[in-house]
Amino acid sequence: MTATATEPAAALLRAYVDACNDVSRSVWGTDDYRREPAEMLEAMREKPYETFVRLVALDDEHADVPDDEIPLEAVLGTGVVVLPQQDNLTWAYVGATVRPAHRGRGVGSTILDACLALARENGRTTLMAETDHRAEPPEGPESLTAPTGSGRVPLDEAGVRFLTQRGWDLEQVARRSVLPLPLDPAVVEEQRARAALAAGDDYRTVSWDGPVPDEWVEAMAALYTEMSDAPPMGGLEYEQDQWDAARVRHHDDEHVKRGIQSWTTVAQHVPSGALVGYTTLMEVPPVRDLVHQEDTLVAAAHRGHRLGMLLKATNLQRLAAARPDARRIDTWNAEENGHMLAINVDLGFRPAGCSGEWQLKLGTAHGQTTP
Ligand SMILES: CC(C)(COP(=O)(O)OP(=O)(O)OC[C@H]1O[C@@H](n2cnc3c(N)ncnc32)[C@H](O)[C@@H]1OP(=O)(O)O)[C@@H](O)C(=O)NCCC(=O)NCCS
Repeated sequence: MTATATEPAAALLRAYVDACNDVSRSVWGTDDYRREPAEMLEAMREKPYETFVRLVALDDEHADVPDDEIPLEAVLGTGVVVLPQQDNLTWAYVGATVRPAHRGRGVGSTILDACLALARENGRTTLMAETDHRAEPPEGPESLTAPTGSGRVPLDEAGVRFLTQRGWDLEQVARRSVLPLPLDPAVVEEQRARAALAAGDDYRTVSWDGPVPDEWVEAMAALYTEMSDAPPMGGLEYEQDQWDAARVRHHDDEHVKRGIQSWTTVAQHVPSGALVGYTTLMEVPPVRDLVHQEDTLVAAAHRGHRLGMLLKATNLQRLAAARPDARRIDTWNAEENGHMLAINVDLGFRPAGCSGEWQLKLGTAHGQTTP
């Protein structure tokens, strides 16, 4: 791997990122998810908790060209295989994407087959993949409904056809929602104050920017562990992923190196001192106008006190102060996650696309990609 994203040897990295950006722009019609090589390079560094294997499909002309001479357009498509190294040892995430100009001639199939081979070699038997869609289609013959009964994907889009034809099952649909900024400060304050009143004196919020302060590292490890399998998962077979203090530190260090800025608010149960919920907003460079609403969790024993709204409204106020120039926030929720979606809708989030969450079990005739 190259040391920096600008040296000549990073030509392949730059072409990889360019292909990812090309696909993302074709899906969303915006540069909302644009990545840059320097940030991607830091994301690619070896991680103790998960191994990321990344693949590129090169055109024939550049198949034997040294990495430092690869022009941007030589990468036709990309693949990724994520192999957890601690829990979920028989599970893998796979992704295959092809530049729009090079679709329909087998590049995607070649990449997906390579990803499946890698997953198999690493003993993985339950695979997950995702397809992204600019709009969630209405019910009808043009759409495929998740077995959860909530959410649909468009049957005529390439990714859906591609995975269904290769034996993958749609297990769940996630809604993408977007909240336009700036928000009316009076409305957010009213939502926060109402939630604080409902929560009462037993709960208080604590907020920080960036890495978790030392005093909360153990508590956040416990919350991240709970978060790993707390949201509804439909039929996706993903088990709880354990976090400890070292993993929290590793995660935060990586974010700092990638230039990621984040804002976190936690809920503390005052009588016990325990942290019982958190929410995080995150900004990934180079994109400045879009901020991501990441995890929000209220521990099971503390639900029903409006803590979800309290956490989110408080954090939105902090974002408004820190990033008055941010133009919108996006977030993803399982379509059947009614409680979380209701809070988001109350805050002004509106549907802005969806993703299909797919699963393939290997080792069955169904799972063979090649005859
Ligand atoms: C899905 C995706 C990866 C497919 O890439 P692709 O390079 O077009 O894939 P292929 O060419 O191998 O297959 C696409 C279709 O072309 C057909 N095809 C393959 N080789 C062909 C050829 N030589 N001539 C004509 N058609 C061909 C395939 O049979 C396939 O048809 P199907 O989808 O009805 O099964 C691409 O559309 C994409 O990047 N989409 C966005 C990301 C995504 O959704 N990825 C899937 C989740 S991992």
